[in-house]
Amino acid sequence: MSDQELWQKLYAVTEKELADGPGCHDFAHILRVLHNAERIAESEKVDHLFALRVGALLHDIARPEEQRSNGTVCHAQIGAVKAADVLRQCGCTDEDLIQRVSDIVRAHRYRGNIPPETIEERIVYDADKLDSLGAFGVARSFHFAGRIGARLHNSREAALNSEAYSREDTAYREYLVKLRYLPERMLTETGKKLAKRRSEYMHNFFDELEKEALSLE
Ligand SMILES: [Fe+2]
Ligand SMILES: [Fe+2]
Repeated sequence: MSDQELWQKLYAVTEKELADGPGCHDFAHILRVLHNAERIAESEKVDHLFALRVGALLHDIARPEEQRSNGTVCHAQIGAVKAADVLRQCGCTDEDLIQRVSDIVRAHRYRGNIPPETIEERIVYDADKLDSLGAFGVARSFHFAGRIGARLHNSREAALNSEAYSREDTAYREYLVKLRYLPERMLTETGKKLAKRRSEYMHNFFDELEKEALSLE
């Protein structure tokens, strides 16, 4: 089977799997991450471009399982196994490709345990983080806050002294506690550059929001 045929099958499976996903993590997120990964790959020395593209496509393939378990299973861990299963079900017999993709999926949610190592793993990690920054990052933060029933906005103090998933877990809190630190966590030079630009936009947005909010007092 050609790469193109395999790609079309995997694309269709992923689109179907994530069709009912929430707006911040649906198939459109996958397409943005894929685009980001391809953009980063243009300026980095990649070993296996097809593995990178398939890894980006399948990186959140187990989101539905994580959601159904209310977060008790990690979509990166079970996604690594599911991605290999999906590849085999689509007719892939290239064990090297299956292993590479599985590793990319497992590493994309790096939170202090095993860091992404290969260039493909680092690129998908960065590509995913980039979608949390910039205008889409702002949009996704508000979308997520809305889904968990948080306020539209709160003060810096309220945001910083609140719990995750509370009414005070606003987009602003997400920015203050997590998103503003993302640029320094990027793992490729190109990812760092892109993140810096997107982060500046995000900083300006929340700065402006804060100014408007303070002017009401
Ligand atoms: Fe993910
Ligand atoms: Fe993702």
